[in-house]
Amino acid sequence: MNPINHVAIIMDGNGRWGLKQKKSRNAGHKAGLKSVERIIKKSIEYNIKFLTLFAFSTENWKRPKKEIDYLFNLLESFLISRIDEFDKQDIKFKVIGKKNFSKKLNLLLNSAEKKTSKNSKIQINLALNYGSKFELVNAFKKIIKNNINIDEKNIEKFLYTKNIPNPDILIRTGNTKRLSNFLLWQIAYSEIFFEKKLWPDFNETDYSKIINKFKKVKRNYGNI
Ligand code: FPP
Repeated sequence: MNPINHVAIIMDGNGRWGLKQKKSRNAGHKAGLKSVERIIKKSIEYNIKFLTLFAFSTENWKRPKKEIDYLFNLLESFLISRIDEFDKQDIKFKVIGKKNFSKKLNLLLNSAEKKTSKNSKIQINLALNYGSKFELVNAFKKIIKNNINIDEKNIEKFLYTKNIPNPDILIRTGNTKRLSNFLLWQIAYSEIFFEKKLWPDFNETDYSKIINKFKKVKRNYGNI
């Protein structure tokens, strides 16, 4: 059976869920946060060591300001209300992406990372203002600046995911089959699961089904 170290998730479908259920995209984001909590809890039960959640992409800045503000306010209150509890549960919190938010949010994110930096039950990587192409271009620039060899090991040293194993599983909810500039380097050998359900409807049973399927997959890594 395949061990699971790292699960990465593209949490898609909040907007559609919100519009359908409450006539507001933001209601979908609020409900999506409940799914986040559920999936963190279940990941701990499965002894998964890394969970990476795509919360905001470099392209999401194109959305209306009202929706962006709502998302970041949601994140702020989430951090304020939950970080002590996360810390008690031995959860490590890390942001992957470029932290160029409001002063308040940057401070909150930095302090959450610092407070939980020694924890080891599970590491939650929150991808915020994250884009895979930006991450790779930046890595190449740093390699050139440092005048070192372009090879796989050196590239990985300059990714946000330095020292984090590559995802075993990538899940995308929301009935769309695309990767949306998420961890393109890191998912080279991940098993990909496209889930029809919208993120706020995604529950523990759906997650368990994917994990059980993954456990039975034969991973060849190019071999036979
Ligand atoms: C994609 O759905 C989801 C996002 C861009 C935001 C993800 C945010 C959450 C799950 C909740 C907040 C999380 C934290 C940690 C504060 P979409 O809006 O693109 O949905 P659509 O495809 O139906 O429009």
